[in-house]
Amino acid sequence: MDTPRRVEHQQTDRGYVPVYATGTVEQPWAAYSKTDHEVWDTLYRRQRELLPSYACQEFLDGLERFGMGDGGIPRFDDLNEVLGEATGWQIVAVEGLLPDEVFFDHLAHRRFPVSWWIRKPDQLDYLTEPDLFHDLFGHVPLLLNPVFADYMQAYGKGGMKAHAIGPEALMNLTRLYWYTVEFGLIRTAQGLRIYGAGIVSSKGESIYAIDSAAPNRVGFDLRRVMNTRYRIDSYQQTYFVIDDFGQLFDATGPDFTPIYAELANAVPTGAATVLATDDVFQEGTREGFVGGDDN
Ligand code: PHE
Ligand code: CO
Repeated sequence: MDTPRRVEHQQTDRGYVPVYATGTVEQPWAAYSKTDHEVWDTLYRRQRELLPSYACQEFLDGLERFGMGDGGIPRFDDLNEVLGEATGWQIVAVEGLLPDEVFFDHLAHRRFPVSWWIRKPDQLDYLTEPDLFHDLFGHVPLLLNPVFADYMQAYGKGGMKAHAIGPEALMNLTRLYWYTVEFGLIRTAQGLRIYGAGIVSSKGESIYAIDSAAPNRVGFDLRRVMNTRYRIDSYQQTYFVIDDFGQLFDATGPDFTPIYAELANAVPTGAATVLATDDVFQEGTREGFVGGDDN
């Protein structure tokens, strides 16, 4: 396959990474190699086998409804028929990470950008930029859930507003995305389950986020999350737990402008810290935590 066209490097929540051409492209489905399809199949099977006891039911239901499977990389057009009908979202193929405003504009219009290219066989467990497996398998199933679908659109609109306010507001909002959309946990009758895309698309972190004694697991609180640093170089040190998607949608409904103003004067909470005010599900042993700067 062609190498995606890199237009510049930018400091993002994933570190210093290339930002690609910003337009959307047609998914070049016919050009995927046998190896590309095999990478999808391998990752799909591995997660499909693991996730029934780790991911939330809404995520698992989404996978089923799309009919995703290990028959090669899905065609975006097929998924879009199901998605459009269910919640009015569409996925669009992109070269890779987008500038913030472009990304927010897509979300605000119920379009979810998905990288068209997939990782190589030697990158099954780790890669530094989101690829098709992360974007599609991780993010898209929950877009079939009406409440989560509305939350994602509201986030896009909020992103445009935060972008206009300034970089600190944007950082507060990025932390919210990080600790919910990417690394969120949800409380269920079966115990804590995963809904975050960064976790469900990673075998190692799926097991770690639920089973390990090391990380902290604390109840979701909007200001707390927006003021908490995060790590991009290791599994998360703290996970935030929601009761259900309604809680997330309702908590993020009010105008954030006063929260941004308040947090501009607050000392951020470290990624590994548990506060006296936290609703603690589990205080982690912190075993294996890396030190040094978090974001
Ligand atoms: N209510 C937020 C604001 O005023 C918008 C938002 C909604 C942000 C949902 C994130 C998630 O900026
Ligand atoms: Co992601």
